[in-house]
Amino acid sequence: MFSKETYIARRKKLASSVESGILVFLGNNESPCNYRDNTYIFRQDSTFLYYFGLDLPHLAAAIDIDSGGEIIFGDDVDIDDIIWMGPQKSIADQAAEVGVGKTYPFARLNSFVADALAKGRTVHYIPQYRADNMILLANILGTQPAAVNKEASVEFIKAIVAQRIIKEPCEIAEIDRACDLGYAMHYTSMTIMKPGMIEQEVVGAMEGVVISGGYMTSFPTILSQHGETLHNHLHDKVLEVGKLCVIDAGAEIASHYCSDFTRTLPVGGKFDSRQKDIYTIVSTANSFAAEMARPGITYREVHLAASRLMLQGLKNVGLVKGDIDEALALGVQGLFMPHGLGHNMGLDVHDMENLGENYVGYDPGQERAKQLGLGSLRMARKLVPGHVITDEPGIYFIPALIEQWKADGKFTDFVNYSALEGYYDFGGIRLEDDILITASGCRRLGQKRLPITVEDVEEAMAS
Ligand code: GLY
Ligand code: MN
Repeated sequence: MFSKETYIARRKKLASSVESGILVFLGNNESPCNYRDNTYIFRQDSTFLYYFGLDLPHLAAAIDIDSGGEIIFGDDVDIDDIIWMGPQKSIADQAAEVGVGKTYPFARLNSFVADALAKGRTVHYIPQYRADNMILLANILGTQPAAVNKEASVEFIKAIVAQRIIKEPCEIAEIDRACDLGYAMHYTSMTIMKPGMIEQEVVGAMEGVVISGGYMTSFPTILSQHGETLHNHLHDKVLEVGKLCVIDAGAEIASHYCSDFTRTLPVGGKFDSRQKDIYTIVSTANSFAAEMARPGITYREVHLAASRLMLQGLKNVGLVKGDIDEALALGVQGLFMPHGLGHNMGLDVHDMENLGENYVGYDPGQERAKQLGLGSLRMARKLVPGHVITDEPGIYFIPALIEQWKADGKFTDFVNYSALEGYYDFGGIRLEDDILITASGCRRLGQKRLPITVEDVEEAMAS
């Protein structure tokens, strides 16, 4: 938790960005896994954490823009809870720690909102992603759960995004820590991976680092020798010499700030020459994007420049042909990288995605493209100091996609389909660092950069 003053200042700034009415914040509840008392690990809602700091279930809060009043809704524990959970601080004491002087029992949220609505006041809330909170809001608002998100407040969403997207120094320090833990997590994979192990053994060792040193993984670990499947969560294969293993994994520390790194390792510790060629294209694109990322340029432009560089690299190895600028404009790169260059990161690994990807990643007036790849770009905005984003180019050989484009006769002037047939067993490569936009450029987050060159990865794997 940050200082009380941090939360007070954040709420004051937020309240000054919304015209009038009441802002309602719902915290998260325990989420049952297979029966009520066997729950998934608790994760507080990130917006609630950002403004109210309290990291426990069954809380809500409200800010009255017009009167300046702030309330936290929650229930003190009773003796039954104390038996199972031990003594707990009162809600009032906890609220005081984040600068909120007024608390009500949770059940008063309903009449509080109903009262505001009866007075014709605007009740602002953000889109909900958990069914229990959708049902709660639907009951309070007298609507259906499925209708709740349609009425979410765009003014509220935009005010939160504008504030949370620029990381404060205290947040950057936490993200640096999350990246240090992410580094330790990934470095472990480089030193323990051996042919004959099951992929899951590496996953377990990596996640052990995070659970011992932080809170949990920042998203389900992706570790696969089928890296051409972008988010492959199957870890059941035996590691085989000569294959590439994509490892996309991150750490979430106790303050809930995240990291998100990807490295692609050669099982057996040595890249072959074909792997080296493609790997070097991706690692060059990763570094090139970081060199370009600076205030004033859009991340869309960086995505396109990195894509152009990779198309040129693929042309050099004979997989792409023709004019590179024409290929780029047509979207040929989507065949090889059907995702965007990066996304915002902070309290969420895809920061604030629950508020709407376009509100978070696109400036007003910026259109989201329809092309494969560019259309998946989650962060396209003009960069400003304080943005924290990922830099994660990749090249993948997805046989089904290549076959489909070939059958459709797509971009035959630019794609060397016959040469690509030799790559159907290649898999994929993705290389991801986390960067902070500074006044003059960007810096990589975390104290040390994970090995990324062919030589450094091979050396780390030999150690
Ligand atoms: N690291 C997973 C993702 O960015 O989607
Ligand atoms: Mn990522």
